[in-house]
Amino acid sequence: MSAAPETLAEPAPASATEPSRVRGIRSYVRREGRITEAQADALRRLWPRYGLGPLPEGEHVLPLPPLDLAAIFGRRAALGFEIGFGNGERLVQAALTRPEMDFVGAEVHRPGVGRVLQELEKLGLDNARVMCADAVEFLRSGVAPGTFAEIVLQFPDPWHKTRHHKRRIVQPEFTAMVATALAPGGRFRLATDWAPYAEHMLDVLNGEPRLRNLSPDGRFVPRPADRPLTRFENRGLRLGHEVADLEFVRI
Ligand SMILES: C[S@@+](CC[C@H](N)C(=O)[O-])C[C@H]1O[C@@H](n2cnc3c(N)ncnc32)[C@H](O)[C@@H]1O
Repeated sequence: MSAAPETLAEPAPASATEPSRVRGIRSYVRREGRITEAQADALRRLWPRYGLGPLPEGEHVLPLPPLDLAAIFGRRAALGFEIGFGNGERLVQAALTRPEMDFVGAEVHRPGVGRVLQELEKLGLDNARVMCADAVEFLRSGVAPGTFAEIVLQFPDPWHKTRHHKRRIVQPEFTAMVATALAPGGRFRLATDWAPYAEHMLDVLNGEPRLRNLSPDGRFVPRPADRPLTRFENRGLRLGHEVADLEFVRI
């Protein structure tokens, strides 16, 4: 997990050999933090079953090969994609409660990935896979148009400081890639606990002609019943932040 942005110093410059450097500005700072022995063991043991792309071993976020998701899941079911799933509470709940769908999650933080693998194994779920990869890179290079019935982005790093706003993942280019990756009728579901980011999301998403806001007043939707409370949302609530949910449909 990247540290809370308000506590971040200027991000360290990426090494020239770092693959994700190629796209320039990243929406995360990769800080390994503590990975428990159990999470590291889950990564080694469960990657062949649940992992997409290379086993995340070192500091770098590696590029993904093209993925044939129907072949990987062994069926053609509606697909969900969660971007930056953190500790994976929503990804695991979605896989558990919607067995008719398959779910893919992307997260750059290895301990979170290890934690999700442990949960997926514990619950015996087979309809979820995870990648330890930059979701933006994945959308840019590895996804056929119309692949997903649902894309989820909840509590993305808000990058509070004005000089860091360019690091926010929700940008016109990202939104266009999301619109392309969604099937017609597919949903883009977002949440944030940072009011200025919620307004930024509205501005950017309203500028994408292939997406229509499902809010009756063109702003926010009620909290979806299937969105579990995550550690990040809880932290925002403790700080007194108001949470905004957004939902857009692919025209
Ligand atoms: C504030 S946390 C929220 C985690 C989770 N979505 C939740 O609701 O609890 C944001 C997460 O997005 C991840 N992240 C940021 N940019 C990413 C990217 N381009 N690709 C994959 N993960 C990313 C970070 O590592 C971090 O874990």
